[in-house]
Amino acid sequence: MKHNPVELPSGSRSYALPRTSKIVLVIIFVTLAILTIIPVLYPLLGYPIYLLKFSPSSSSSSKPSTPSTYENDEEVGAASIKISDQAEGCDIFSGEWVRNLEAPYYTNTTCWAIHEHQNCMKYGRPDTEFMKWKWKPDGCELPVFNPAQFLEILRGKSLAFVGDSVGRNQMQSLICLLSRVEYPIDVSYTPDERFKRWKYTSYNSTIAYFWTPHLIKSKERDANGPTQTGLFNLYLDEFDEEWTTQIEGFDYLIISGGHWFYRPAVFYENHQIVGCHFCQLENVTDLTKFYGYRKAFRTAFKAINSLENFKGITILRTFAPSHFENGIWNQGGNCVRTKPFRSNETALDGDNLELYMIQMEEFRAAEREGRKKGKKYRLLDTTQASLLRPDGHPSRYGHWPHENVTLYNDCVHWCLPGPIDTWNDFLLQMLKMEGIRSHQERLHSGDRKMKFQ
Ligand SMILES: *[C@@H]1O[C@H](CO)[C@@H](O)[C@H](O)[C@H]1NC(C)=O
Ligand SMILES: *[C@@H]1O[C@H](CO)[C@@H](O)[C@H](O)[C@H]1NC(C)=O
Ligand SMILES: *[C@@H]1O[C@H](CO)[C@@H](O)[C@H](O)[C@H]1NC(C)=O
Ligand SMILES: *[C@@H]1O[C@H](CO)[C@@H](O)[C@H](O)[C@H]1NC(C)=O
Ligand SMILES: *[C@@H]1O[C@H](CO)[C@@H](O)[C@H](O)[C@H]1NC(C)=O
Repeated sequence: MKHNPVELPSGSRSYALPRTSKIVLVIIFVTLAILTIIPVLYPLLGYPIYLLKFSPSSSSSSKPSTPSTYENDEEVGAASIKISDQAEGCDIFSGEWVRNLEAPYYTNTTCWAIHEHQNCMKYGRPDTEFMKWKWKPDGCELPVFNPAQFLEILRGKSLAFVGDSVGRNQMQSLICLLSRVEYPIDVSYTPDERFKRWKYTSYNSTIAYFWTPHLIKSKERDANGPTQTGLFNLYLDEFDEEWTTQIEGFDYLIISGGHWFYRPAVFYENHQIVGCHFCQLENVTDLTKFYGYRKAFRTAFKAINSLENFKGITILRTFAPSHFENGIWNQGGNCVRTKPFRSNETALDGDNLELYMIQMEEFRAAEREGRKKGKKYRLLDTTQASLLRPDGHPSRYGHWPHENVTLYNDCVHWCLPGPIDTWNDFLLQMLKMEGIRSHQERLHSGDRKMKFQ
C-alpha cells in the first residue's frame, strides 16, 4: 500500500497542490497556523537559563501554578503520572540526550510514511548527527523502540492520534518504527486525508489519525484577519464532532494541541462572543490565546468523559516547543543547531511554560472528573525532551531551496528519522507499564473501598 504523496491537510507549505477545495482550505489553514507561531524564541547558548525542573512525578509540589484546589492531588497524580516510579523509581520524561550510534532505525528509503516536508535528507540536510541520539532518563534506561513488542501489545487493539500536524508527525514516526516488522494497509473510512486509518493485518491492530487542530469546533471567519494568517471562530464549549463521534471504540487516544492557538481567534461560549485572541474587533475583549487553549482542552476532555462507551485510555501528549532563533518565523528566524541542548543549557519559559502548565491543570481536572466515570488518563510528557532538541527540525530542508514557501524555515515539525521517534519510545514504555499499573489501581481502589465502608 502506497502512502498518498499528496500533501496532507496539515501540511505546512503553501505550494502543496491539493485535490479538492476542501483540502485546499485545510492546507491553507494549517499553513497559516504554523505561520503564527510568532513569539517563540529561545535563548542562545550564551544566555543560559537555570533549568526549570518539572519532572512529572514531582509536579504537584514543584509547579508553582498548579492549582492548590486539588486537595487530593497526591492521589490523582499517583495514578496518572508516576509511570516509571512503579517500574524503576525514575521519571522517564526527565533526563538528557546521549549518543546512540546505532540510530536511526529506518531511513527515507526503508519507510514510505515520511511526510514530504519532514523528509529532511531528501532535501539535502547535510548533517546526520541529529539522528544519532537517544533519551536517557535520570536514574533509569528507556529502551529503544522494539517494533515487535509494540505490535504485540497492540494486538487486537486500536490507537488514535487526535490533534494537528505534529500529532500526525508522531504517527508517521510510529509507522516508520514499526515498518521493520510490518506495514499497515490503508483502511480509511473517507478519502479525506484529515482522517486516516491504518490496519496491521497480522496483528489486527488499528492506528488512526483525526485532524482537529483546535480540538473543539472551529470555523474560519476571515481568511486574512489581523495578521494575514486567518481569523478563526473557536466555539470553546462545543465538541469537534469530527473526532468525538468516532473514538468510542479506541483503546488508546493520544491527544495533543498547541501551535494553532497562536493565531487570531474569536471565542464563542454559549453561542455568544465572549472575547478573542488578537482579533482586533471593536468592543471584543482580548482574552489571550491562553484562555482559548485552556477552554479547548477543557471541552475536549469533557467530550471524552461524556462518552459512555469509551473505555480507552486517554494520553495527553504535552506541548512540544518550536525552536526559532534570531527572529520570528517570518523575520529570518531559523533553527540551525546541529546538537541537542543539555538540560542545564535551556529551560521551559514564557509561552511554552504557560501552555504546558495550562495543559497539566486541565489534564488533572479532567482526570479527576473522569475517574468517577471509570475513565483513564495518562501523560506522555514530551515537552522537556523536545525542548532540548533544537537540532531536530527540518529548518530549510523541508523543501527545495528554490521553492517559494511561506514557512521557509520549519522549526515546528520534526525530521524523520529524528527526535520525535523518542516520543514512541516513551509510548511503548507507557503501554508496557499499563498492565502493572492497572493491577495496582485495582488494589488501590480496593483499599479505598474498605476505608469508606
Ligand atoms: C532519501 O534521501 C536521499 C539522501 O539521503 C535522497 O537522495 C533520496 O532522494 C531520498 N529518497 C526518498 C525516497 O525520499
Ligand atoms: C480484531 O480486533 C477487534 C477489536 O479491535 C475485535 O473486535 C475483532 O474481533 C478482532 N478480530 C479478530 C479476527 O481477532
Ligand atoms: C462599541 O461600544 C461603543 C460604546 O458602548 C458603542 O458606541 C459602539 O457602537 C460599539 N461598537 C460596535 C461595533 O458594537
Ligand atoms: C552543564 O552540565 C555539564 C555537565 O554536567 C557541564 O559540563 C556544563 O558546563 C554545564 N553547562 C552550563 C551552561 O552550566
Ligand atoms: C511567493 O508566493 C507569494 C504568494 O503566493 C507571492 O506573493 C510572492 O511574490 C512569491 N515570491 C516569489 C519570489 O516568487
